[in-house]
Amino acid sequence: MAANEKVQRLKKKREEAKKGGGEKRIKKQHDKGKLTARERLDLLLDNDSFEEIDPFVTHRSKAFGLDENRIPGDGVVTGFGTIHGRPVYVFSQDFTVFGGSLSETHAEKICKVMDLAVKNGVPVIGLNDSGGARIQEGVSSLGGYAEVFWRNSMASGVVPQLSAVMGPCAGGAVYSPALTDFIFMVKNSSYMFVTGPNVVKTVTHEEVTSEDLGGASAHSTKSGVAHFAEENDAICLREIRKLYGYIPQNCEEKPPKAEPKKPDSAKAKALDDLVPESPNKPYDIKDAIEGIVDADSFMEVHEHYADNIIVGFARLDGRSVGIVANQPLSLAGVLDIDASLKGARFVRFCDAFNIPLVVFEDVPGFLPGTDQEWGGIIKHGAKLLYAFCEATVPKMTVITRKAYGGAYDVMNSKHIRADYNVAWPTAEIAVMGPKGAVEIIFRKEIAAADDPEAKEQELIDYYKEEFAHPYKAAARGYIDDVILPNETRKKLIRALAISENKVDSIPKKKHDNLPL
Ligand code: HXC
Repeated sequence: MAANEKVQRLKKKREEAKKGGGEKRIKKQHDKGKLTARERLDLLLDNDSFEEIDPFVTHRSKAFGLDENRIPGDGVVTGFGTIHGRPVYVFSQDFTVFGGSLSETHAEKICKVMDLAVKNGVPVIGLNDSGGARIQEGVSSLGGYAEVFWRNSMASGVVPQLSAVMGPCAGGAVYSPALTDFIFMVKNSSYMFVTGPNVVKTVTHEEVTSEDLGGASAHSTKSGVAHFAEENDAICLREIRKLYGYIPQNCEEKPPKAEPKKPDSAKAKALDDLVPESPNKPYDIKDAIEGIVDADSFMEVHEHYADNIIVGFARLDGRSVGIVANQPLSLAGVLDIDASLKGARFVRFCDAFNIPLVVFEDVPGFLPGTDQEWGGIIKHGAKLLYAFCEATVPKMTVITRKAYGGAYDVMNSKHIRADYNVAWPTAEIAVMGPKGAVEIIFRKEIAAADDPEAKEQELIDYYKEEFAHPYKAAARGYIDDVILPNETRKKLIRALAISENKVDSIPKKKHDNLPL
């Protein structure tokens, strides 16, 4: 073959590979409002940065006439590129080829980029859009999935792994995204479930649509499986790029720095008057966060799930931080099972990837009730406690108002090795709120009084004088200072800077035994 012919051959093969499942199937994909695997990578990665690996891989199956139907790439586009100039490995399942189903070779392609990612200390982003195990391949396909799951587990905590579910993701296939750090879903075009509506109907007689059972809304509000639910593919990919800007390449690196920005000036000015006079009145803790962190830098994670706790990334003077905050607007900011799980997972991610933690605390305690006790609030609350205890990144806490009971200890208290703990003058640090406390310790005195109501109020005032302030904790050094809300940003930035080279460790162990 002449040299020119060889070049032509390569060009032809490349073109063929780019076509995926062909025009008809691409149109079908577009008609569903979905982009193709390659169009998605174009939006995810920096312009002209994508280097494809394995475009010519084809499956090895012969059964069911598959030997007559080999499509280069075998239903997944893999390779590497950059986001904001920083390297990333990617795989993007191509629904136009065998429905993006996972064959032995499809799995090998994914495993190849995952192995390279771990070796090179580079994050992996997976765009999932697949009919699941390639049915014609049987156990080879199941084995392929397990190879991916094993790598997801081994890479966990070594390099960040982000998943977007942009189409079907069903059966055991859900466990690959589930093992990664963050899951993005697209509304109305993606779903995740272990068993679909038909099986559900047979087994439980429930009638439910795919969207209601496992769509982006269900998983971002009810199950908490998805961290983000986006309107369409393009927005989803844009948000992944945004998140990428807060996280480091691997567990040995620090997160990237950005240009420092002053916070939103109206919100910064409003800080001193944010906490209402009455301890029972709610306020939006996001107003505190946004008045303190760099303008437009707060990226909320799990926005619509367990909103009594707020978690997300932000920047302080350009440095990436992980925010964990009780939200008085929802259930008075109480800690329950879902909030504990949400908080714990986020804290562990930040600690694994060297992202300092900033906690805003206004917590009246743990949520009482049989639902919570029988649901295991003890073991789930323990996860949040454990996560803060084991975290060795710089840890800071700002108590804005209530810090009551066990929740005071859990929310990154000094005692579990937080580095910088401050309170606003409005802080109340006590075993419990005044009314509850007085009813327990002065029950007899109140009952014996001529005017029980007046007596109770008198005792509440006395209790408040004793405990409803931060100065007892400050006197013991359990908080490092009492500060004005408008001083918070400056002080946190300084505390962050001084802890830049913090060295801390946990005892040597095979692995921990986090209460599951
Ligand atoms: C092989 C598949 C496939 C699969 C879809 N296709 N799923 N080929 N293996 N698992 C092919 C179809 O034959 C079709 O080929 C093309 O992909 C598009 O599929 P359609 O059905 O036309 O698309 P749509 O109507 O959009 O429906 C999509 C779908 C449906 C809902 C995903 O295809 C479906 O139900 N697929 C099977 C899903 C499933 O049960 N998978 C196994 C799950 S268990 P042509 O040539 O016509 O374009 C599992 C175990 C994982 O995955 C193991 C981990 C432990």
